[in-house]
Amino acid sequence: MAKVAVKEKMAKLHDSKIVPMVDLKTQFQFIKEEISQVISEILESGQFILGPKVSEFERRVADYHRVSEAVGVASGTDAIHLSLKAMDISDGDEVITTPFTFFATVEAILYTGAIPVFVDIEDDTFDIDANQIEEKITDRTKAILPVHLFGHMADMDRITKIARRHGLKLIEDCAQSFGARINSRKAGSFGDTGCFSFYPSKNLGGYGDGGIITIKDKEIADKLRRLRNHGSKSSYIHEDVGFNSRLDEIQAGILLVKLKYIEEYNIARRKKAHLYTKLLSDKVRCPVEKEGIYHIYHQYTIRSNKRDVIQKRLMDEGISSVVYYPVPLHLQDALRFLGYKKGDLPVAEKTSREVLSLPIYPELEESIIEKIAEIIRSVI
Ligand SMILES: Cc1ncc(COP(=O)(O)O)c(C=O)c1O
Repeated sequence: MAKVAVKEKMAKLHDSKIVPMVDLKTQFQFIKEEISQVISEILESGQFILGPKVSEFERRVADYHRVSEAVGVASGTDAIHLSLKAMDISDGDEVITTPFTFFATVEAILYTGAIPVFVDIEDDTFDIDANQIEEKITDRTKAILPVHLFGHMADMDRITKIARRHGLKLIEDCAQSFGARINSRKAGSFGDTGCFSFYPSKNLGGYGDGGIITIKDKEIADKLRRLRNHGSKSSYIHEDVGFNSRLDEIQAGILLVKLKYIEEYNIARRKKAHLYTKLLSDKVRCPVEKEGIYHIYHQYTIRSNKRDVIQKRLMDEGISSVVYYPVPLHLQDALRFLGYKKGDLPVAEKTSREVLSLPIYPELEESIIEKIAEIIRSVI
């Protein structure tokens, strides 16, 4: 589409005056023709389930992560659930994870009958504290499930060593970290599997639900291919009791288009994040980038004991912001049966009271970041 036409459309969208957390409509204007073309191609082909776009997308994602295989599934939640199933994690097993993540991480563990065991988080990165993992390992521990929250990777060097030392499986929740890395090694290439979500608002998002699993081991990959498709490798022959959890052909086509731009999108996110940090770091706690970490800022999350006042002022000025996450998982009503109480995981609890995620997306204008920073500065 001509640049002028895109600009006009964007101006119209911006007339709505509300600054959203993500702006998928603007992003779409830049890739509209490619998306329309790929969707039309799929519609013409008549192949909608496990067709060539899914295979091509799987190959490209595996190559991007330098792992041998990738298996497309229906969601990020399923990516974690099926990974755990493929590694035979089941009733009564324990899986060590973080209490400061989206609920789905823990739902996936519970679907298998295993018990999530929470380890508190680091005060600066929001990720699981690798220093505290070993003390939670018991005879029943089968896996560690770190989450690279907001796009900043957990301490995978240490976590990988701990998993190896104790013979545990390692499953990375990469739902918020497509393209994040430690030095040159990408999220999803450290564990036995890496689990990605393509929920539309993710930094690589589809136009519906979707997910993918990156895998090193061929046997696990084969099992995952069966599990996502009713336990079947060839039609009507079933080796396992599986699921209907396939990545949709149309989503794969859309994601193939967006994958071409993911590095560009992540670079733009980093640039916006660094501007926020420059404008805000003397007033609130800004996200950190630990040594060697390439943060992709799926979220830009500040911390302040004036969080609620800041959010109210932003709202008054038409600026969206979200508290990810207001209640750590160990204190959620749905998980009361696990027996945790207030005070058990103090860093996660304090973090929940202080965090506020600000709008961040590749197309976010710098003038809006400046305005947001000005409002926040005026509150403090
Ligand atoms: C950290 C984390 N894990 C898992 C998921 C689940 O992904 P999905 O919504 O694709 O099932 C999400 C996102 O929604 C997430 O943010």
